[in-house]
Amino acid sequence: MTNMNWKIVAGVGCASLAAAGTGYLLYLLGQKSAHSDKRLPSTDKTYENNDPINLYVIDHTTINPVLKKLHKLSTSHSKGIMTTAIEQDTFLTILTKSLNAKKAIDIGMFFGCRAMALALGLSDGGKVVGLEINSEYIENGKPFFAEAGISDKIDIRIKDAEEGLSEMIKDGESGTYDIAFLDAFNKSYPSYLEPVYTLLCPEGLFVIDNALQGGKVVDPQVDKSVNGVFRINDMLKNDCRFEVVLLKVADGIMIARKI
Ligand SMILES: C[S@@+](CC[C@H](N)C(=O)[O-])C[C@H]1O[C@@H](n2cnc3c(N)ncnc32)[C@H](O)[C@@H]1O
Repeated sequence: MTNMNWKIVAGVGCASLAAAGTGYLLYLLGQKSAHSDKRLPSTDKTYENNDPINLYVIDHTTINPVLKKLHKLSTSHSKGIMTTAIEQDTFLTILTKSLNAKKAIDIGMFFGCRAMALALGLSDGGKVVGLEINSEYIENGKPFFAEAGISDKIDIRIKDAEEGLSEMIKDGESGTYDIAFLDAFNKSYPSYLEPVYTLLCPEGLFVIDNALQGGKVVDPQVDKSVNGVFRINDMLKNDCRFEVVLLKVADGIMIARKI
């Protein structure tokens, strides 16, 4: 091969390597955004797609007809993706009934599907204290609570959840709640652990939605230290005052039982 030919080969080789390098960089960037922004399909909520398993799950779940209407309205809102999965709602109704629960806490109400599900499961005279910072959202739920005959079972408090929980403790309600459900903005989750623990009765349940964070729990590129859900998952797992189970339903529910 002549000197000139070697130069051409070397030039083409370098260009290919550069292109491959750039391609790989773009691939990595693509991977990063795919991992950071997209949720794993296995964590979808049943209402997000017509996956046959999802349809089967819904078809084999008892759904209160008024809750079904509220859920439809809630999911049609521009921020409707915040709505809980309806089979989880029924699960919470059944859990609450099985516990013979009288007192529940719902942190982060949005349109109130979960609050309604909890209220439907409470025994006579029972009450759900719902904490929500945005009154506009929960106004949508009120006519449905009335239609289902459970308005007197849902005590809506428009305030920051941390403030609401500490007021409940000051009001002498420590150790009296059977179940607390958490589904607010996840940054503050770790700070809810102690007040919820205080408010729960022995054997009480602390239930946390979106425990899998769309699959980010297994994404090595996500900084786990800044996400409140990862932090509270770990805190609960390592807290001998609770026994825990993380259920792979929708985006995951962590259930921690106060020992
Ligand atoms: C994911 S949505 C809850 C969905 C709801 N559980 C349902 O049944 O569909 C989160 C809600 O938490 C509320 N929220 C966020 N941070 C809060 C806080 N610090 N205190 C009270 N509510 C909060 C938001 O306004 C929003 O309505």
